[in-house]
Amino acid sequence: MCCNVSRILRRRCRSVRRFCIVAIIRLQNQTIMRHFHIPLFILIATTALCSCYCPPDKVRNHTRCAYRILCYGNIRGLSLPDQCREATNYPVTVDVTLTDAQEDFDDENLIDEGLLNYITTLKISAQWPTTKLAILTYTTRLQNLYLVNNCIEKISGNPFYYLSRLENLYLAHNKLTDIEFLFQFQSYPNRLRKLSLAFNEIEDIPGDAFDELSSLVELDLSYNKISDLTEEPFYNLTKLEILRLNNNQIKDLNGAVNGLPILKQLFLRGNQIHNIDEESLKIIKHLETFDLSKNDLEQVKPVMFSRHWEHFANASICRIILSENQIVSVPNATSNEISSRFVRQSHMHNVDVSTDLNLSVNSITDIQYNAFQSLIKLVNLNLSKNKLINFVVNPNDLIYVKYLNLSGNFIMQLYSETFSSMNNLQNLDLSGNQLDFIPDMAFNNNYNLKYVNMTYNDIEKLDAIHINMFHPNGGAMDLSNNHLYKLTIPYGEGLRLYSLILHSNNISDISLIDLSHQSELQSLDFSRNSIEELHASSLLLPASLESLDLTRNRIQRIGPSTFVKFSRLRTLRLSVNYLTEIEYGMFQGLSSLKNLDLSYNRIKVLESKFFLDLKCLQHLSVRSNGIDVIDFKSWYGHKFNMQVIVDNNNFTCEWLSGALSDFNNGYSRVKPAVLVGVTGRHSLEGIPCEAGETEMLVEGPEYVVTDERLLVTSQKILEAVREQNFYLRKFMWKLFPEEVNRIVTQQ
Ligand SMILES: *[C@@H]1O[C@H](CO)[C@@H](O)[C@H](O)[C@H]1NC(C)=O
Ligand SMILES: *[C@@H]1O[C@H](CO)[C@@H](O)[C@H](O)[C@H]1NC(C)=O
Ligand SMILES: *[C@@H]1O[C@H](CO)[C@@H](O)[C@H](O)[C@H]1NC(C)=O
Ligand SMILES: *[C@@H]1O[C@H](CO)[C@@H](O)[C@H](O)[C@H]1NC(C)=O
Ligand SMILES: *[C@@H]1O[C@H](CO)[C@@H](O)[C@H](O)[C@H]1NC(C)=O
Ligand SMILES: *[C@@H]1O[C@H](CO)[C@@H](O)[C@H](O)[C@H]1NC(C)=O
Ligand SMILES: *[C@@H]1O[C@H](CO)[C@@H](O)[C@H](O)[C@H]1NC(C)=O
Ligand SMILES: *[C@@H]1O[C@H](CO)[C@@H](O)[C@H](O)[C@H]1NC(C)=O
Ligand SMILES: *[C@@H]1O[C@H](CO)[C@@H](O)[C@H](O)[C@H]1NC(C)=O
Ligand SMILES: *[C@@H]1O[C@H](CO)[C@@H](O)[C@H](O)[C@H]1NC(C)=O
Repeated sequence: MCCNVSRILRRRCRSVRRFCIVAIIRLQNQTIMRHFHIPLFILIATTALCSCYCPPDKVRNHTRCAYRILCYGNIRGLSLPDQCREATNYPVTVDVTLTDAQEDFDDENLIDEGLLNYITTLKISAQWPTTKLAILTYTTRLQNLYLVNNCIEKISGNPFYYLSRLENLYLAHNKLTDIEFLFQFQSYPNRLRKLSLAFNEIEDIPGDAFDELSSLVELDLSYNKISDLTEEPFYNLTKLEILRLNNNQIKDLNGAVNGLPILKQLFLRGNQIHNIDEESLKIIKHLETFDLSKNDLEQVKPVMFSRHWEHFANASICRIILSENQIVSVPNATSNEISSRFVRQSHMHNVDVSTDLNLSVNSITDIQYNAFQSLIKLVNLNLSKNKLINFVVNPNDLIYVKYLNLSGNFIMQLYSETFSSMNNLQNLDLSGNQLDFIPDMAFNNNYNLKYVNMTYNDIEKLDAIHINMFHPNGGAMDLSNNHLYKLTIPYGEGLRLYSLILHSNNISDISLIDLSHQSELQSLDFSRNSIEELHASSLLLPASLESLDLTRNRIQRIGPSTFVKFSRLRTLRLSVNYLTEIEYGMFQGLSSLKNLDLSYNRIKVLESKFFLDLKCLQHLSVRSNGIDVIDFKSWYGHKFNMQVIVDNNNFTCEWLSGALSDFNNGYSRVKPAVLVGVTGRHSLEGIPCEAGETEMLVEGPEYVVTDERLLVTSQKILEAVREQNFYLRKFMWKLFPEEVNRIVTQQ
């Protein structure tokens, strides 16, 4: 498909070029006549035709001899200024992007060597199923070459042979199958550091394919069809640090990388490897990143976890990624590995090396007690999506763990001993298990938890959470999707807990949730439960709350002064409940409340006088209630503009036009608005309304000017006068600055 697109592009380019030739010729005549100033550094060649390949306006230089040039079809008609050509004090970099490249670079008559010789970075886009890459004969200073996505199936000859300065070569996203004899260079050793052959169709790598690339640091062979490495193609790559072989069809490494003494990162994801042992991967102990995810591994061998400390710089992280295999168990470390760990620790002094281990998405049922003993400083451990029914391992091996993911297993019980030493743990994911309680002492020594996720478990009732104190910056705990109907966090527990999520549980009596000692709790989510009533005495919640979500319950009644102590509450959600009326005193004390959601209830009448305490209210939603009138008299003097979302109600057009014109004229602070606007006869400013018996008056009814309105009006007039003076002065200043200055200084 890429080839078709490219063909169309080429056709378009040809016609552009034809136009371009005519234009250039015309331009030249004019140029001469008008002494049009052509930038000095570009010498337009004798044929005007050439300059349209690399249009002068597409040439940029950010320092004196550093150029970025765009060319179409060919690279002609440009040359560098003398000061950048001969022995120069400036570093010369010429970065050329050639789009829609022609194929005729082997026709010497069409070659203009003026610039080719100086190019340091060349990016070509073309459609070249078979090519000799003849252009490279002339680009002797090339350092970076991008031949990505050019449909190349075959490269003949030795096009890179003379590129003695080439450092980075990208051949990704082509259709190459044969790379034998391709990477041969005149000079030895050559300078090639990075080679990408990703996304090609390579099946076989001949043993000598990379023989000469002794300076190569990174080799990318990912997304090919390589299955066999028996010819040991990497044998001479003694400087290689990164090798990407992911997404191929490799079944066995067969020692193919054993000769790479300083390899640091080996990517093998998405192959068919079922065995790794000391013979097949001798250098495994040197590896910082070892990604064997998505293979056919059934067993973890102790050698996979063992690393040689000498090969790591300070602050290295060893990543061992074994996810998405068919591993069923993780055995004890053998005494060999363990003793080497302790030797390592005593040698390492200040060198700080840590390990991430990813075993997620396997079928692990069994982790032996000393399974992690040979790992250096395990920090992240991912065991999610396995088949564990418990997690009992040596706590000494978990001391440094910060992230532990056990989600998606079948764990029924937490063993206190295992967790008790994890005093660095910050992020604990236990979601999707079968826990029904939190054991005593489990988190006794832990003061660093930031996220504790226990959603989707079987907890019905907790009399304590056994987490004494969360992280100094606060902690969040998710207990949603359990069967919780009762929860107490006693005095002295749960310090620094700032967010608690209890949605989708079985809470019907909210007084069974006692959080009154959580004096730092700010956010509490009770949505999707079965709460029916709220009273001042039933909310055993701390006054520190800033956000309270009671969406989707069955609340019918909220008693007077229920929220009276929540003077810091800013957001209260009561959406999707069974409220029918708002009564006097219901929202008493909510003096900081900014957002109130009453949508999807059954409220018919809304009177502003019952909201008088809500001095800071700015967003009120009454969507989908069936309200026909809001009396907003008490809100004339409200502090802030207040947006009232009114979708899906039954407001009369009379009320609506009054409300809108009062707001627009600045009499009231109440702005009716909808989330989904409509147009049509029975609507105003996009808000639908019910026409009354008499035809509606779009201009709004004649209103009786109440006292409050008069007051507001006179204030408005005063403000307007003040504003006008200001603008007048500003205007004068512009026209006669001296005058105004004189007047000002005289004053
Ligand atoms: C770009 O090149 C011209 C001519 O060589 C030079 O005069 C100019 O200073 C260069 N621009 C920058 C930003 O160096
Ligand atoms: C590659 O390695 C082999 C065996 O060590 C050696 O004989 C050969 O000279 C090397 N080739 C190059 C080009 O370095
Ligand atoms: C761990 O493995 C899972 C599954 O393959 C993957 O989604 C996740 O990105 C991996 N994490 C790391 C840090 O490699
Ligand atoms: C693993 O180590 C623990 C503790 O040393 C030991 O109790 C257990 O039997 C070992 N498991 C096996 C299979 O050797
Ligand atoms: C290693 O890094 C740690 C901090 O990451 C530092 O405290 C220690 O001094 C460093 N050690 C060496 C040998 O550089
Ligand atoms: C752990 O593995 C799961 C896949 O089961 C993945 O979604 C998650 O991102 C992984 N976490 C880390 C930190 O690698
Ligand atoms: C833990 O793994 C699950 C996959 O089972 C993933 O969805 C979740 O995001 C991970 N938890 C964390 C905190 O990374
Ligand atoms: C808990 O985990 C679930 C799914 O694993 C996720 O959707 C939810 O956002 C997590 N909770 C928190 C507070 O991170
Ligand atoms: C919800 O809690 C009640 C007791 O309050 C119990 O009878 C009922 O079975 C629970 N329902 C679920 C789905 O757990
Ligand atoms: C309110 O409007 C809805 C449609 O938006 C209509 O079905 C309902 O009958 C109306 N109710 C009243 C009381 O007018």
